[in-house]
Amino acid sequence: MNGRSLRVLFVASECAPWVKTGGLADVVAALPPALVTAGLDVRVCLPYYRSLRPEVGEAPPVATVVGALVRKARLPSGIIAYLIDAPWLFGRDGGPYQDADGSDWPDNAQRFGLFARAAAILASDETPLLWRPDVFHGHDWQAGLGPLWLKTSLPKPAPSIMTIHNLAFQGVFPAQTMEALRLPPEVFAVEGAEFYGRLSFLKAGLHYADMLTTVSPTYAQEIQGEAWGCGLHGLLTRRRADLTGIVNGIDDRVWDPATDPLIAARYDRDHLAEKAVNKASLQRRFDLALDPARPLFAMVGRLTWQKGVDLIAEVADRLVRAGGQLVVLGTGERSLEDVLRGLTHRHRGAVSVRIGFDEALAHEIEAGADIFLMPSRFEPCGLNQMYSQRYGTPPVARATGGLADTIDGVDPEGCEGSGFLFDEPMGTALWAAIERALGAYRTPTCWRRIMVSGMRKDFSWAASAERYRTLYEGLIRDAGRPA
Ligand code: ADP
Ligand code: GLC
Repeated sequence: MNGRSLRVLFVASECAPWVKTGGLADVVAALPPALVTAGLDVRVCLPYYRSLRPEVGEAPPVATVVGALVRKARLPSGIIAYLIDAPWLFGRDGGPYQDADGSDWPDNAQRFGLFARAAAILASDETPLLWRPDVFHGHDWQAGLGPLWLKTSLPKPAPSIMTIHNLAFQGVFPAQTMEALRLPPEVFAVEGAEFYGRLSFLKAGLHYADMLTTVSPTYAQEIQGEAWGCGLHGLLTRRRADLTGIVNGIDDRVWDPATDPLIAARYDRDHLAEKAVNKASLQRRFDLALDPARPLFAMVGRLTWQKGVDLIAEVADRLVRAGGQLVVLGTGERSLEDVLRGLTHRHRGAVSVRIGFDEALAHEIEAGADIFLMPSRFEPCGLNQMYSQRYGTPPVARATGGLADTIDGVDPEGCEGSGFLFDEPMGTALWAAIERALGAYRTPTCWRRIMVSGMRKDFSWAASAERYRTLYEGLIRDAGRPA
């Protein structure tokens, strides 16, 4: 590379603040700047959804690939984004994957098939751009066909790396999709992109990429087992030498209670009294009884089976009987939304739920709640438990994936640690952990120790960015390029 910085192209379907349905967007927004600080040259490739238009400002077209325009824009962080503009696929109202009613777009295979192909071309000798990456870094199934195109069809391909943010979403489509996407027929094989007679975008990525990562060391282990391997544990076990778990960081400038403009009162570990102001404001906002002494529990996130929302519903009555209050912010499965709505009717003034996606409110909840609930059945990394520790809102979480890796469990008798972990994905186990948290909460010196130990933790991206850098450098060495 003759002394120039190592170039990486991030290929993903979400990036905050432009398009976000979950943690993927936060990672794709925050990791590139951390890599730039580490001396790399990183750009991001995204679909040009209609909803992006008012966000990105002027985004001049700089090239054409597979019939789509490539537009160039700059993220608020300063990172350059290449936007794949195919209006017949992305120029519509609705979400990135689903229409306004929550049904998957029927042409998702075409949409992300073209997207990944365009991105792969940008990482090969066929690119029309002057800036050419040394590494293609794909995220989740939407980028999965990229490594396949690079390995099978493109001249002088960059080596590729795939990051699994959630193995449960795989992008599996009927076999006929092969032809529609003009994929080389020979890739439709067990040692390829075929998954039980269908085409799997994620499997393609995991098979053809040179290197694999996922977002925590514990999840990297879990997905090699049948229970959490979602049918791909065999492949992942075979490739375990190429699979690394690197824990996510957080954007600690956006998520900092000392400077957060979205919360009622700013505070840090030496000025914890202001947290009470945030609690009162949150109680008001959610029409809860204004009572500083009642422990206020919270959950923010997708309302799905993964997140164990049903377990929260199971313990809610007990939680209220024990004097607690509960706020929930999220969207997701209709049935879980209904269960939560039912709780608010039963426990007016003690349980309150907002169905919707509200970034500012998520900050207010992190700041105003006392205890954060994350009883996830599985959690590749999870970001909210890190936000909550930073905001002095100790989490109660299941010891799985990134939750196990980023929370220091408080032992049953002690006050050492930053949160409360439990093992079994059951209401009884969650409740036992909540009781431990309530015990600590009622002992102010103990509670303060737990809050402060979470607030002291370093969740910045710096260390993980270094690990990605090491992987990229290894990839380039293996590909026989001068590093
Ligand atoms: P996942 O990606 O599995 O949904 P993460 O914990 O990694 O879970 O990331 C979720 C991100 O999305 C966090 O930044 C969280 O605050 C945010 N989030 C999820 N649901 C909502 C919501 N309803 N309103 C605001 N923010 C939300
Ligand atoms: C996924 C996972 C979540 C992770 C996020 C970012 O959505 O469900 O655990 O934090 O990706 O990597």
